[in-house]
Amino acid sequence: MASKIIHVIHGPNLNLLGTREPEIYGRETLADIDARIAARAVELGFSVEARQSNHEGDLVTWVQNAGLSGAHAVLLNAGAYTHTSVALHDAIRGIKTPVIEVHLSNPHAREEFRHKSWVGMAAKGTICGFGAESYLIALEAAARL
Ligand code: DQA
Repeated sequence: MASKIIHVIHGPNLNLLGTREPEIYGRETLADIDARIAARAVELGFSVEARQSNHEGDLVTWVQNAGLSGAHAVLLNAGAYTHTSVALHDAIRGIKTPVIEVHLSNPHAREEFRHKSWVGMAAKGTICGFGAESYLIALEAAARL
């Protein structure tokens, strides 16, 4: 039977949500957002494993592990590593599990250095610009895959 587990991977500085530039990222904490994702996942018939790290290698390992464990999908907000990490790009390409790139803000409408996404170039698709709702929209998309 296909796995009913969706992995949610949050990258650097997302542990600061709630107090970090709230005019851009909102006032919900990461725990608030993870709770909303988990509750909606149950309604959709999935369970969620959510993790956050400030370290690029952790994110690479967790993407690999999602693939190895046969997870249904990965929701990945790689934070600033989105714009720099060839290693994450390669990890996403290296697994069969679909990875959906997620951002709270819309990087395309921000500084030019955020316009390039190594994650997006390897991902199944991207949801960005809807605040915390980006994760919920990505979850709906993941559940339909
Ligand atoms: C972000 C966008 C990135 O450019 C930024 O570095 C972040 C957060 C977002 O969710 O909007 O850390 O991934």
